[in-house]
Amino acid sequence: MAVSEEIKKIKLELEKHNRLYYEDDSPEITDAEYDALYARLKELEKNSNSDAEDSPTKKVGGKAKRSFEKHNHLKPMLSLNNVFSEEEFKKFDERVEKWVSEDNTVYSVEPKFDGIGISITYEKGNLVRAVTRGDGLTGELVTENILQIEKIPKKIRLNAPDIIELRGEIFFGLKDFEKINNELEKANGKKFVSPRNAAAGTIRNLDTEIVKSRPLDIFFYGIGGHSDDFTINAHEDFIKYLKDNHFPVNDLINFCKKTHVQGQVQKILSSRESLNYEIDGAVVKVNDFKKQNKLGFVSKAPRWAVAWKFPASEKYTKVNDVLFSVGRTGVVTPFAQIEPVLLSGAKISNVSLHNMDELKRLGIMVNDTVLVKRAGDVIPQITKVNTDVRNGSEKSINIPEYCPSCSNVLKTEGPFLRCDNGMKCPAQLFGFFEHFVSRKAMNIEGLGYKINKHLINLGYVKEAADLFKLQNFETELKALEGFGEKSIDNLFKSIEASRKPNLERFINALGMPEVGETTASALARFFKDFGSLRKASFFDLMQMDNIGEVVAKNIIHFFKNETIGLDNLLNEIEIQDFIVSKDSHLDNLKIVITGSFENFSRDELKQTIKEKGGIPSSSISSKTDFLILGENPGSKFKKAQELGIQVVTEDNIGKFLKL
Ligand code: IVH
Repeated sequence: MAVSEEIKKIKLELEKHNRLYYEDDSPEITDAEYDALYARLKELEKNSNSDAEDSPTKKVGGKAKRSFEKHNHLKPMLSLNNVFSEEEFKKFDERVEKWVSEDNTVYSVEPKFDGIGISITYEKGNLVRAVTRGDGLTGELVTENILQIEKIPKKIRLNAPDIIELRGEIFFGLKDFEKINNELEKANGKKFVSPRNAAAGTIRNLDTEIVKSRPLDIFFYGIGGHSDDFTINAHEDFIKYLKDNHFPVNDLINFCKKTHVQGQVQKILSSRESLNYEIDGAVVKVNDFKKQNKLGFVSKAPRWAVAWKFPASEKYTKVNDVLFSVGRTGVVTPFAQIEPVLLSGAKISNVSLHNMDELKRLGIMVNDTVLVKRAGDVIPQITKVNTDVRNGSEKSINIPEYCPSCSNVLKTEGPFLRCDNGMKCPAQLFGFFEHFVSRKAMNIEGLGYKINKHLINLGYVKEAADLFKLQNFETELKALEGFGEKSIDNLFKSIEASRKPNLERFINALGMPEVGETTASALARFFKDFGSLRKASFFDLMQMDNIGEVVAKNIIHFFKNETIGLDNLLNEIEIQDFIVSKDSHLDNLKIVITGSFENFSRDELKQTIKEKGGIPSSSISSKTDFLILGENPGSKFKKAQELGIQVVTEDNIGKFLKL
């Protein structure tokens, strides 16, 4: 593959994983895998002299999510560069000493907490606001939620400056995490994948009561912006200041010369397994603030601090059984039921084995001893089978011939097993239904795991259209244990309100393989009405920029073979055509937004651009038509200037968008 092509591919991958990690709280790859991709991109960029202004290596991941007000940080919340070895740390230290023209630097060494960064502002000693990291420049205002956390002092009592941003990491203790997950599982069958994920989901919960009911914890470790009357000049003194003011500070922090840094990192690593919270490395910081200032930042990370990352945690355990589960699209996936192990904070009892090829590659048997590995938030994996300790009790795995959910004969498609019984298979019906009603699809409130199971098991829902006939079972539903009359009435209201979905949502709701939100949106824009999409040929679909052969085939196959009862469903609903609004003055213009705005949220701007026919885009290229420019714009502005792209500033947004 050509270098430029590989750069492009990795960039897209990293952007996707940033989105999954920061915006959706549902990462799909390990931190180590992310780091490897990132390192590869950096290397390629270096070797190819690519300027890559819009590269993920030049920006902090993540964007602010909806529903909370946005707020700019006084000083950006940045990331840290990583080192993985003593040699790499040595290079970091050499650069530090070169910049400050002094040796014998004193460093602090402290755990790198695997939680959620938060910036809390105190004015005249009073807590006035709390903002999540967001995109590093602008985060979400979560003050109300932060006020629920008992451990966070609401006042700085001693030597409070006029204004100061205190930075820290919010997390759940491992025991609390397990308790929360047990309760959630009982209530709706869903769990958080990791303590970090639970902390993210809790601090961005719109219901303060939920936040209050969960014992979030915090460690403070840094300063953002502050007024001139804050005169502390070393990290060690700052930590003391925090302690004196009763701010929770981690007690594994140490201060030492460079020669002792590795020892301190090792000390933290060796205590890792016994801690009641999750860490994924150590952070090494230059102690002296004057030196920190001199060193400053490069691109997205400080030159005065570095994260010394630990390897992913792994443990040996026993395979109790290998079972098979049926997903929404009929794919039958093997998974190992293992003797539970605690790995990076979460109790793991099931591990996916992905497909038949993976089963063969591992050569795994029931009763085998296997190595399970998991980094941070990410899905655990079996990386090795220890065949040396086999004792004859191992049993080979029975590959099913029949679907474990509906007993239909399974088909083999490459490395996958598939049940093609569609909605007649209860597991597929359940998977489809959960997706169909979800927030970004038909958006029906009041349908959780428990009630969905009931609706399917009791036979009230056999195909999509049945959702709209649930009122026929009003009495029965109201008599179900655990579902009050009011909640059923609200459910009916929400179902009624969903009868006129817009085309994008509806396409997404169909749950066609590999047609998610983005593709659904592109299809809606291209075909404008559902009828046209339904009768589109392979050739028609391939006319679209962003649809490849596989997706086009999936779509054709879906409409030919669907079992969701599409015709019946269409009798119940009225799909709203994709309208490029009466005012389509932005028709097909590619518009990039950068920076933050006083009077608009980025989501609002994107929505309006879409409504008026424009295409919000994420990176600047020669194809970009306009750049909407906010505060603290970063590199996109520079690139737009170089390419001579027209710029719209906040004052002119109203005119430009014809608001
Ligand atoms: S200091 C300029 N100290 O790691 C950045 N960060 O990867 C200085 N983190 O955004 C941050 N533990 O959310 C610092 N002891 C620690 C930390 C820590 C966790 C997080 C923090 C930061 C991210 C960077």
